[in-house]
Amino acid sequence: MTMNDGLKAFTDECQQRVEQALERLLPPSTTLPTRLHEAMRYATLNGGKRIRPILVFAAGQALHVSRERLDAPACAVELIHAYSLVHDDLPAMDDDDLRRNQPSCHRAYDEATAILVGDALQSLAFKSLCCDPCMQADAQIRLAMVEALARASGSRGMAGGQAIDLQAVGRDLNLAELENLHIHKTGALIRAAVRLGALLDPSADKKLTQHLDHYAKCIGLAFQIQDDILDVEGDTETLGKTKGKDLAQEKPTYPSLLGLSGSKEKAQTLIQEALHSLDDFDSEADPLRWIAHYITARTY
Ligand code: IPE
Ligand code: IPE
Ligand code: MG
Ligand code: MG
Ligand code: MG
Repeated sequence: MTMNDGLKAFTDECQQRVEQALERLLPPSTTLPTRLHEAMRYATLNGGKRIRPILVFAAGQALHVSRERLDAPACAVELIHAYSLVHDDLPAMDDDDLRRNQPSCHRAYDEATAILVGDALQSLAFKSLCCDPCMQADAQIRLAMVEALARASGSRGMAGGQAIDLQAVGRDLNLAELENLHIHKTGALIRAAVRLGALLDPSADKKLTQHLDHYAKCIGLAFQIQDDILDVEGDTETLGKTKGKDLAQEKPTYPSLLGLSGSKEKAQTLIQEALHSLDDFDSEADPLRWIAHYITARTY
């Protein structure tokens, strides 16, 4: 199987799993309060790439954790991500009208609903880690997973990164500051995805889990660098979100600091470093390897 065939088969299977699991987890839109539940489903079941859930499955596979145990953490991290996008698009933040090729949540509904959608998706993420029976995890493991996800999404993770992002508008950040911003706003949740998968094998070798963590740190940063590159080079229809927003809103980005070719070089270096961290893993880590290549090859 070539890398591309392998990646496609793996992502197709993971996407199918996570779509079904999210469908089961989200309250039906016929349940009160119906408008909130409908909006939660609108903001989640709308064709994201599901890269974070795919990473949960891939990290689990690298440590021989069975797929059905990984559905709940895969959903949890995607729910946090979906919430972060709903809030990111609000007028008070990036003021974006388009998300995943549809009107963003506050445009399809209203701002108050979009705020509540984010709140409720976040709570649902933690509930799924606490209660899902298929995870087959004891209370100690569940607690460690809740902590990992809470740290990654809180003020020292994604939410903190978003705060730094908003403060940085119109200012020139240096490279270290920009890296810090990206590591928080996007890297933290990607790192948590890999960690959640790994936490389901508490007997995993410590060195191996450290290597996995380093892999995740590298691809997390590369993922946001590619997002910045696509904001310049991509097109709105393929991206499913408005291109050129970063420049229009004077966001500090890798292309604004290093130029396009410098940004691409930096992303490639990170991918090589990520791949190198997997040297001690067998072929069960191939999905992680394919995903690393995909991060910079993607066009949306
Ligand atoms: C977009 O994330 C926002 C970032 C953190 C870079 P994705 O590119 O994963 O968006 P979806 O989930 O596929 O829509
Ligand atoms: C988003 O960064 C990061 C989070 C949502 C946490 P961006 O603002 O660059 O994401 P897009 O480009 O709107 O998807
Ligand atoms: Mg933003
Ligand atoms: Mg944005
Ligand atoms: Mg962006």
